[in-house]
Amino acid sequence: MRARSHKGSTRAISVSADEPLTSASPLGRRRSNVDEYFGTNRDFWDEVVAVHVRSRGPHAYNVDDFKRGGTALHSVELEEVGDVKGKDLLHLQCHFGLDTLSWARLGARVTGVDFSDKGIEQATALAAELGIDARFILTNLYELPKQLEGNFDIVFTSHGVLNWLPDLAEWGRIIAHFLRPGGFFYIVDAHPFSHAFYDEADATELKLGKSYWPTSEPMRFEEDGDYADRTAHLEHQVTFEWGHTLGEIVNGLTDAGLRIDFLHEFPFLTWELFPFLIRSEGGYYHLPDGMPKIPLMFSIKATKPAH
Ligand SMILES: C[S@@+](CC[C@H](N)C(=O)[O-])C[C@H]1O[C@@H](n2cnc3c(N)ncnc32)[C@H](O)[C@@H]1O
Repeated sequence: MRARSHKGSTRAISVSADEPLTSASPLGRRRSNVDEYFGTNRDFWDEVVAVHVRSRGPHAYNVDDFKRGGTALHSVELEEVGDVKGKDLLHLQCHFGLDTLSWARLGARVTGVDFSDKGIEQATALAAELGIDARFILTNLYELPKQLEGNFDIVFTSHGVLNWLPDLAEWGRIIAHFLRPGGFFYIVDAHPFSHAFYDEADATELKLGKSYWPTSEPMRFEEDGDYADRTAHLEHQVTFEWGHTLGEIVNGLTDAGLRIDFLHEFPFLTWELFPFLIRSEGGYYHLPDGMPKIPLMFSIKATKPAH
């Protein structure tokens, strides 16, 4: 999601917008730069894990509630993924594991993957403390095929994941690689169209802020504070994030051989993308009554054909 997933006001600077968008793999083209961007992003995520673990309140992770037996999952993914009992589930970009462990509580055999060592450390400790059977792997998503063997019934990823990934063609191939024939991939995340709208702290209505089509290079963000605790002060305030169109997301999956079962669009999302959104009881943020509606969140289910 733009804006450091779940962050409020942001100002993006494109690292270098002079290059036209091409279909060449960003990973292959500029590996060394991309590694540097990943390093900066990892420093940020390592630092915010502690902030998130102690965060309490409506925008927060509320680990105590989870420890008492709650779920970190939202109604949309719970309904759309369906019964996971006895299923092998691979969770990409699992952060510190609350969603992963929530699926385990529902009966899945779970493997969570993230490139933040603080995130994986916390996830592993939480699983041990709560006696939940789960496996967590520390790796960059793009290195996962070198780190993990086997395949899964479900590959899952959610809420604030795609903006950290430079290459969705490779992402799609990795997902297809880890799915069993007949297994499915599920994603729910911010709708790419919502990222074209102005989202600074002084925004009062929907106003186009930038092109829907991203530049080939990442956007650089620099700001203090955090979406789960706005009073937090961060040492690592810089992140590099990539925009993607809906077409790029769908094609990343279909080009890898997956069949789209559905693509759903929602007029709400799980964080306060614009300061004028209104939080509903279910924990979703909606546009106010009377304002034209645009899609703020999407979900896709895609199956790996059995033959
Ligand atoms: C917003 S969080 C994931 C959302 C999760 N549903 C949550 O809110 O708890 C994004 C996660 O992506 C991870 N991440 C970012 N880039 C990554 C990469 N290249 N490989 C693996 N993990 C990555 C970060 O460490 C972070 O934990």
